[in-house]
Amino acid sequence: MAPHAHEHHAAEHDTSAHDASEHGEPFVAELLDLEGEVLHAHLTEVTGRLADLTAESAEDRPVRRILDLGSGTGTGTFALLRRFEDAEAIAVDASPRLLQHLRGRARELGVADRVRTVEADLDAAWPDFGGVDLVWAAGALHHMSDPDRALREAFAALAPGGLLAVIEMAGVPYFLPHDLGIGRPGLEARCRAALASVHAETMPHLGADWGPLLSRAGFTDEAERPYTVELVPPLPAATGRYARAVLGRMRTALDGRADADDLATLDALIDSDGPHSVLHRDDLAVRTERTVWTARRQPLAVGRERRQP
Ligand SMILES: C[S@@+](CC[C@H](N)C(=O)[O-])C[C@H]1O[C@@H](n2cnc3c(N)ncnc32)[C@H](O)[C@@H]1O
Repeated sequence: MAPHAHEHHAAEHDTSAHDASEHGEPFVAELLDLEGEVLHAHLTEVTGRLADLTAESAEDRPVRRILDLGSGTGTGTFALLRRFEDAEAIAVDASPRLLQHLRGRARELGVADRVRTVEADLDAAWPDFGGVDLVWAAGALHHMSDPDRALREAFAALAPGGLLAVIEMAGVPYFLPHDLGIGRPGLEARCRAALASVHAETMPHLGADWGPLLSRAGFTDEAERPYTVELVPPLPAATGRYARAVLGRMRTALDGRADADDLATLDALIDSDGPHSVLHRDDLAVRTERTVWTARRQPLAVGRERRQP
């Protein structure tokens, strides 16, 4: 373990008090959980592809140990544990609150004995994860200050023949029609453009082409696959809560960076009790694009190590 890494087994009960305000993380936790719920079918499709790829691997190695980098509340962790029934997962995140939430979910889902959480800043020294079969990094690499280094560490964490999956979303999803009936038509497109300029300053690696970085880190068999998610009404109530969480976060990020009339429209949309709340709209859709990069650490059988005396 790195000097600053804290490890918990999800089966242990958390005794620390829950601070509902710290860094707004309960809000982030809700958003991540809702995203996992709304994009459930998409996640199932992606983990299915990973199952095919791991079954195709030269050594046909079963997936027993999974590492979820920047796990948040465990959306990826739990989707992978569902898919790989014999596997255990290590969920790593810098946020103790999100990991605490993840451990609670693991207990609710009855998989606490298959999940270990590690609190670690992946921009600092990495803990020794001891050879895993599958590394999953969803919406996480663009947060790293040095993604090249993070990918080299991910490569080192994989056992030979292991697989890496990098999942990134192309901007925030669209939920609303062009003309909402309030404010100026085209709100979401304008907000996304404004948000893109905020992100360009704060997260320069967002939207990167990860393929060349994977090769540089030593991976082979890189493949890039785009996924278009399009969910159309009628949709479950979680969609409204997800839209509210995403638009609420957008509203905060755009404070002072979008026109006042657009900010007022966003305020009306995220006001749970107001007449224009997204919670009450029956025309919400979810349109988003995600890209999944997969790459492999070369198996020993065709590597140089085998030939050494
Ligand atoms: C967009 S969220 C994605 C969460 C999760 N992978 C999912 O798909 O729902 C990004 C996550 O990366 C974590 N993160 C950001 N920077 C990190 C760092 N330097 N070390 C470890 N975790 C980090 C955040 O705490 C957050 O949980």
